[in-house]
Amino acid sequence: MSTAATMELNAAETGSVAPTRLHHFNYVCRDHEETRTFYEDVLGIPLVSFFCEVEQVPGLGEVVLGHAFYGLADGSQIAIMNFPNHPDMREPALEAARTLPNTIHLAVNVTAKVQERAREKLTDAGVEFMEVDHGVVRSIYFRDPNGITIEYTVDPTNVAELSEYALRTAHENMRAYLAGDHSEQKHKMAKTVTARFDS
Ligand SMILES: [Fe+2]
Repeated sequence: MSTAATMELNAAETGSVAPTRLHHFNYVCRDHEETRTFYEDVLGIPLVSFFCEVEQVPGLGEVVLGHAFYGLADGSQIAIMNFPNHPDMREPALEAARTLPNTIHLAVNVTAKVQERAREKLTDAGVEFMEVDHGVVRSIYFRDPNGITIEYTVDPTNVAELSEYALRTAHENMRAYLAGDHSEQKHKMAKTVTARFDS
């Protein structure tokens, strides 16, 4: 039996609330094509998803974000984002991370039940958390005592279907984005494949 399968079995027996695996780690880049060339062409880590998101950020107004996801063998991802309309937030990347500390965070995959338990535990401990329904995943964000932002994220039950759609559209979405099309590609995905959650 693999280590992962053994851990899953142990978790089922003990009721462990330990996250199952890393979901993704998010970082900021200066330039998506430069970054894609490095991860995909140099290191051989494939671009498995790319979408543009438009968010209203207090104090900044409308912010366009381009999200690229590079897939690791166990299904976890390295997520790289940038802000095409806010050069001060992308140059250099670390400055952007300081401006918006949540852009650098460690995300782990959890079940809906474990996420619910975490909500209760955080509330009991007086730790603030933020909930975001991304459509394709449902997340809560909170900080550890050292200031590291942690995301507990729940995949939909049809995650395989969504991943397949994301893989098929990753390169065309990135090309459109780089060509200046900053329309919300995430919505296109939501119209084509509806994410399903147990609760
Ligand atoms: Fe994230």
